[in-house]
Amino acid sequence: MRGLGVIILAAGQGKRMRSATPKVLHLLGGKPLLWHVLGACAALEPHRTLVVVGHGVERIREAFPAMEAGAWVLQREQLGTGHAARCAADALGDFTGDVLILNGDVPLLSRRSLSEMVAAHRSANRELTLAVATLADPTGYGRILRGTDGNIVGVVEERDAGEAERAVREINVGLYLASSDFLRAALAALDNRNHQGEYYLPDIAGFAAGRQAGIGSVTIDDPREFRGVNNREELAWMEKALQQDINRRWMDRGVTLKDPDSTYIDAEATIGEDTVIGPNSHLLGRTVVGAGCRIDGSAYLTNVRLADEVHLRFSVVLDDCDIEEGVSVGPFAHLRPGTVLKRNVHIGNFVEVKNSSVGEATKASHLSYIGDAELGRESNIGAGTITCNYDGFTKSRTTIGDRVQVGSNTQLVAPVVVGDDAYIGAGSTITKDVPAGALALSRAPQRHIEDWVTGYRARKSK
Ligand code: UD1
Ligand code: CA
Repeated sequence: MRGLGVIILAAGQGKRMRSATPKVLHLLGGKPLLWHVLGACAALEPHRTLVVVGHGVERIREAFPAMEAGAWVLQREQLGTGHAARCAADALGDFTGDVLILNGDVPLLSRRSLSEMVAAHRSANRELTLAVATLADPTGYGRILRGTDGNIVGVVEERDAGEAERAVREINVGLYLASSDFLRAALAALDNRNHQGEYYLPDIAGFAAGRQAGIGSVTIDDPREFRGVNNREELAWMEKALQQDINRRWMDRGVTLKDPDSTYIDAEATIGEDTVIGPNSHLLGRTVVGAGCRIDGSAYLTNVRLADEVHLRFSVVLDDCDIEEGVSVGPFAHLRPGTVLKRNVHIGNFVEVKNSSVGEATKASHLSYIGDAELGRESNIGAGTITCNYDGFTKSRTTIGDRVQVGSNTQLVAPVVVGDDAYIGAGSTITKDVPAGALALSRAPQRHIEDWVTGYRARKSK
């Protein structure tokens, strides 16, 4: 089996993004552009993968901690794509085989297109294969130049192209496969005599044609695959395109999306069969949704795990939570990091939970804040209950046992423990631990002043 090396070009600044963030770290489907490219390449199981980096090298390396240090090749000065490829080819040392070179800003190339390209290149025994596409509007791309016999004779960048060349609608996708020996020779021969004064990688096509080396092309039909991200508008276009792919995939797998156009599912999120998702829902990061869940709409979920049969009612925000089977949440609830809801818990409207675990079948149905708390099973948290967990210096915990009835408008001043089966009278401020089975009351006793109103009105109307 011939060796396969991969070179990803990602040293450019991405000026047209107008951003402090290196271009390849801009997010698409919640993951950096470069992550998508690396994923597609990894499917080819290459022997070596090198990424040429320059601008923002530290931030890029930090974003991919699992990459081996030797995978990063520094291009100190951005002298062009050809120069970048040369830096990487040097780092490949005495590697022999085929080398796949791609732009780090073309994120949606499919694994299938890449492996088809490798197969075509090898079966035709070529030295260079270019990926090409034909566009109604080729603006911005390098144009493929062919001789009268139809063979590729070179690539011309738009800025260097004459009128006739600009009219060519066949474009250079920015994806090249070359034999290592040919590539070394071709890169060594590059010059920078062009409009931008840069070493152009596509010029290796002209070099191949001049040497009568075996050169050919593969066509990529789907514009989603070869579009590069050079500015924010293209990034938005790409996000839409990726979203459509992802949504279609989940629908194929048995998920109902009531409005795919307003459903945003990140690349790493997963969803079980027969889950129904309403409009304006966001499933972000590593969110995992089980089977048979209902997400009514306007849900913003980040790194959330929902087991099966969970019901998220309209308008909820969940962040880093673990939600067990049969739970229902919302409408209008906010579950913050560290929230664990055990089976069949009910969290109702205007309830906020943070860093707390809520035991099986416990309910907090209205207007509550539960923070830094441990709640047992089958307890009921009355409307307006607040755990007072913060004294301005430290956060303290509230522990509530099983089958506890917390009356409405109760404040639990942490640290405090409420024993199993305890009752707390409505309107209480609990500052001391409540023994199991006790009734705790801390509100002032009610008293009546008989006939007070008649006298009051008489005094006022004088
Ligand atoms: C490039 C091709 C063009 C092709 C298009 C497809 C060249 C000269 N032109 O144009 O024919 O149609 O891609 O999208 O290659 N980079 C480096 N070091 C550098 C310069 C660039 O690593 O010195 C990296 C960039 O980070 C980027 C990639 O190379 O990921 C492409 O560079 P870019 O400037 O975007 O090239 P295009 O103008 O898009
Ligand atoms: Ca580009």
